[in-house]
Amino acid sequence: MIARRRAPARVSLECVADVGAVPATFRRETRMPTPTRRQAPAAKRATRSTASTASRAGARRGVAKTAKTARSRKSATTRGRTAGARRRAAANDALAMLRDDHDRVDRMFKRYEKTKEDGRKDALREEILQEVRVHAQLEEEIFYPALRAAAGEDPKGKAGELLAEAHTEHDTVKWLMAQLEGGGLDDTEVDAHVKVMAEYIRHHVKEEEGEMFKAARRAGLDVEDLGARMQARKRELAAG
Ligand SMILES: [Fe+2]
Ligand SMILES: [Fe+2]
Repeated sequence: MIARRRAPARVSLECVADVGAVPATFRRETRMPTPTRRQAPAAKRATRSTASTASRAGARRGVAKTAKTARSRKSATTRGRTAGARRRAAANDALAMLRDDHDRVDRMFKRYEKTKEDGRKDALREEILQEVRVHAQLEEEIFYPALRAAAGEDPKGKAGELLAEAHTEHDTVKWLMAQLEGGGLDDTEVDAHVKVMAEYIRHHVKEEEGEMFKAARRAGLDVEDLGARMQARKRELAAG
């Protein structure tokens, strides 16, 4: 007697795919044998196993998330400490101090360019001249001589050439400042002098912060010691 083969039932794997037992790419209707009693518990076991796997994965994600949060908190604390240490080091770092001065003067020039009111412009111009005067003096008394003394340590030997250029540029800025302080210029000429001075100083700053600071690092300048001396001298000059 020939056993009649039961026609396979059309079932959907959607329910199985839902619990992750079958990859979603197989989520389609297919023909498969009707599950026997033995197969059904296996499906349940698969479901339980999947749930348990999901649970373990969730637990792992939880642990990972906690660890990530802890790492994030720790790195924030480290960042805080690093930023604090950087600020403290920058306070006595000659190069950072000079860079701060450059940025401040640049902001003042930008304010001057936008200001229309005469009284405000006069006050701002005075502040710029004072700031540039003190900055140039610190460089000429402390920073440039220190770089000149260490120039022999610069393997590229560019420090001497850079210093000669910087002194010439300082002289040109001082000439513009003398014109402004002389009082013989009309308003248009005053603005033209301030504009040329701003452009000239921006060019000078670009060279200082670029080539000259690189030469200072190559020559191994003690920037913290220099910075401390410059801070002290700046306080003296501010006190008059
Ligand atoms: Fe300079
Ligand atoms: Fe400078």
